[in-house]
Amino acid sequence: MPRNVTVTGVERTFGDDDIIVSKTNLKGHITYANDVFLKIADYKEKEVLGQPHSLIRHPHMPRCVFKLLWQTVEAGQEIFAYVINRTKHGDHYWVYAHVTPSRDTSGRIIGYHSNRRVPDRKILEDQIMPLYRELLREEASHGDRNAGMLAGEQMMMDLLAREGVAYDEYVATLGKPHLRASRDGQAPLPREQAI
Ligand SMILES: Cc1cc2nc3c(=O)[nH]c(=O)nc-3n(C[C@H](O)[C@H](O)[C@H](O)COP(=O)(O)O)c2cc1C
Repeated sequence: MPRNVTVTGVERTFGDDDIIVSKTNLKGHITYANDVFLKIADYKEKEVLGQPHSLIRHPHMPRCVFKLLWQTVEAGQEIFAYVINRTKHGDHYWVYAHVTPSRDTSGRIIGYHSNRRVPDRKILEDQIMPLYRELLREEASHGDRNAGMLAGEQMMMDLLAREGVAYDEYVATLGKPHLRASRDGQAPLPREQAI
C-alpha cells in the first residue's frame, strides 16, 4: 500500500453487536470478508478477495504492532490488538481485534482469522491513542523503515517492562489495572476472565 494514502479524518463506527470478520491465507491475502467488513470499509467482495490485508492499513497504525501480530500468529498463538483501519475512501474506524491461526486436522497452520468488535472508547482515548501516537513518532524519527519499527518495538517492550506485564496481559487488562495480579505476586487471571 502506498504510504501517502488519503485520510479524511472522518471516523466510522459500527454496532456493539457487529463482528467484523476476515480470513487470510498464510501470506495475509484476504480469502474471506463478511458483510460487516465490506460495509464499513466500503468495498465490494471482489475488490478485497486476494488482496493483501494491508489494503485497509491506516497510516496512523504503528508498524511494530503488526510485527508483533505476525510474530504471534505465525508462532501459532492468538493475539488481541487495537487497530485503526482505513476505508476505501480514507475514513477510519477503530476495532478491537482477535487474530488467530486456523489449522487443518493435522494441526498445520493453513491461514489466519480475525474477529473485530467495537473497542472500549475510554481505553482507546486514554491509553491506545496516546501510545500509538508515541510509537508512530518514534518510528517516524528513523529514516530507515525497519530501524523505525525496531525502535517502536523497543519502546513497547520498555513500556511492558515498566508495567511488569506481558503484551497479552497488558492488552487484556487495559482499563482494569486491579486485574494485573502479576504486579502483587499473585497468579494472573486466565485471559478469558480478564477480558
Ligand atoms: C488475519 C489477519 C488480519 C489482519 N487484519 C488487519 C487489519 O484489519 N488492518 C491492517 O491494517 N492490517 C491487518 N493485518 C496485518 C496486515 O497483514 C499487514 O501486516 C499490515 O496491514 C501492515 O502492512 P504493511 O507491512 O504493508 O505496512 C491482518 C493480518 C492478518 C493475518
